[in-house]
Amino acid sequence: MKIDGTPYRSVWVDEQDGWSVRIFDQTKLPWAIEILRLTRAEQAAHAIRSMQVRGAPLIGAVAAYGLCLALRANNSSVSMERDAAMLAATRPTAVNLRWAIERMLTRVRNTPRDARVQAAYAEAALIAEEDVAQCHAIGQHGAELIEIAAQRKPGQHVNVLTHCNAGWLATVDWGTALAPIYVAHDRGLDVHVWVDETRPRNQGAALTAWELGRHGVSHTVIADNAGGHLMQHGEVDLVLVGADRVARTGDVANKIGTYLKALAARDNEVPFWVAVPSSTIDWSIDDGLAAIPIEQRPATEVSTITGRALDGSMATIRVVATGSQAANPAFDVTPARLVTGLITERGRTAANAENLARLFPEYG
Ligand code: MRU
Repeated sequence: MKIDGTPYRSVWVDEQDGWSVRIFDQTKLPWAIEILRLTRAEQAAHAIRSMQVRGAPLIGAVAAYGLCLALRANNSSVSMERDAAMLAATRPTAVNLRWAIERMLTRVRNTPRDARVQAAYAEAALIAEEDVAQCHAIGQHGAELIEIAAQRKPGQHVNVLTHCNAGWLATVDWGTALAPIYVAHDRGLDVHVWVDETRPRNQGAALTAWELGRHGVSHTVIADNAGGHLMQHGEVDLVLVGADRVARTGDVANKIGTYLKALAARDNEVPFWVAVPSSTIDWSIDDGLAAIPIEQRPATEVSTITGRALDGSMATIRVVATGSQAANPAFDVTPARLVTGLITERGRTAANAENLARLFPEYG
């Protein structure tokens, strides 16, 4: 996607040296565009853990490149398995992380030692390219939903509500939930996005709003609690969110607060769609609520807030009284029964085991 006319991806191999890995430091956005250079696996693990990179498909791709850096430093099997475990332990909920690392290990374990680095870079590049193609396909399949909504209200804009950031910053390019919005916008459809701020880390306010703005998509940031009210007043035509892990039965783990939006959508008969590449589907899980691990993040993310002070400096301030405890579950699970459907790279489908297996027979 483009930042003020210049095309970027969210992770890439440095064009000058051909091996180090470039990422945006997403903790600095939208206030500063800082591109980091990763040269060691530990730096890739730190980038994922500290959320310099985040979003399910992107952390998978960065972990894949992290393994390339690990192998460049030491191509022995023992060291490779140790670094793979270190990268896998960075964040627990998004299955793309484990999926990408296992795929890398499968490729490299079957490769002679002196060819491992080359094989790893080739596999990481494939993972990245596939993610771009899948997200682009999700954009095409999902844009039809916006077109259908537009046909129902000629001359008016289509209002889409989204939560967290499931745009190009969360994938290698295009995004999942935002890809249909970009495609619809580029086709000339009048689409407006309600952007949930997404406390505690504000991925909506800081990242989604920035992305949409850079691409020229009309949007309005709302407090997380405003979505239900807007739905009650007919101000939301559809909800589009991404996911960190989808059970084979269609249960959806996504950023905390997604479940509440699904409940409000159901009560107001607003379609609730989840956009996911197949790398986000965990074919080993039947019951998302019981089996998907939910990341517990530091309480300070709730008790403080970081932003730009009016004098232009960055500031972190407390918003919770000293002495109060804070809890920070980072994801929740929306049961499949509340999901209108899934938008995958192979098309749209109902969120249940039968339909998912029909769409992906190789896993089902
Ligand atoms: O904690 P984050 O910012 O990594 O959470 C990201 C999300 O919840 C996204 O909605 C999800 O990864 C979808 S990515 C296209």
